Amino acid sequence: MQVNNSVIVITGGAQGLGLAMAEHFAAQGARLALIDMNDDALSEAVQSCQQQGAKDVRSYIINVTDEEAVESGFAQIDRDFGGINVLVNNAGVLRDGMLVKYKNGEVTHKMPLSQWQSVIDVNLTGTFLCGREAAAVMAKREQGGVIINISSVARAGNIGQTNYSATKAGVVAMTVTWARELGRFGIRCGAIAPGFIETPMTQAMKPEAVERALAMVPLKRWGQPSEVADSARYIIENDFFSGRVIEIDGGVRL
Ligand SMILES: NC(=O)c1ccc[n+]([C@@H]2O[C@H](COP(=O)([O-])OP(=O)(O)OC[C@H]3O[C@@H](n4cnc5c(N)ncnc54)[C@H](O)[C@@H]3O)[C@@H](O)[C@H]2O)c1
Repeated sequence: MQVNNSVIVITGGAQGLGLAMAEHFAAQGARLALIDMNDDALSEAVQSCQQQGAKDVRSYIINVTDEEAVESGFAQIDRDFGGINVLVNNAGVLRDGMLVKYKNGEVTHKMPLSQWQSVIDVNLTGTFLCGREAAAVMAKREQGGVIINISSVARAGNIGQTNYSATKAGVVAMTVTWARELGRFGIRCGAIAPGFIETPMTQAMKPEAVERALAMVPLKRWGQPSEVADSARYIIENDFFSGRVIEIDGGVRL
């Protein structure tokens, strides 16, 4: 599939990796539907994509955890663009914390259910809902399509990330499942598992945390959002890619 003229939906498209992918595809003549909850950032993202050369770019304020909002939002995108060629399931959150803390013979902390659930809701349920709605539109239109799920190097399991790691492993399991279920409709599904990428999230880290993180990366630098966008373009353009994960992480292993 070519990026030029394709209708590409990106969740969490207002900033960070989602915005980088949107700008990358805009420069190649894509038609973009950006989904996010951050109204102001979304307006700026639309302008930026227009400047990059997007054929058409529209924004949709949708909370990906809200089933009704996702259903009506994807129906609206289908009407606005006359179909969906690609979905990038990128919206995601972190709420890090230890499972339990134990000191001086006392359990001093347990990860609250709400902390677990908030990450499950966005990263796993949001990906499920958007993937389901996009697949329904693609199947109905009978023109195939591509679904890209954004996982993470943390899918292997990482200290302080019980909730996040579980979702990022789950997203890969959904990728394989969807590739197997949806192949009959000409729908391919791939995942990208980025390592540490330079985004507003990493820019907010303390210098000592930055040093610790970079010490683990064989290439000794952050990945760039454009390098993740390149991987997404590869998945779109390679028509035999499905059910697999691209790891773009500078060789880091957590
Ligand atoms: N930055 C990294 O180093 C890195 C590494 C591995 C994986 N990832 C993954 O890449 C994706 C993007 O990460 P990022 O660093 O760009 O994050 P970010 O926080 O900069 O951007 C995430 C975007 O998602 C939106 N969002 C959050 N919850 C939402 C919801 N319920 N509904 C709609 N939109 C919502 C936010 O408003 C924001 O615009 C995430 O899935 C993240 O887990 C990031």
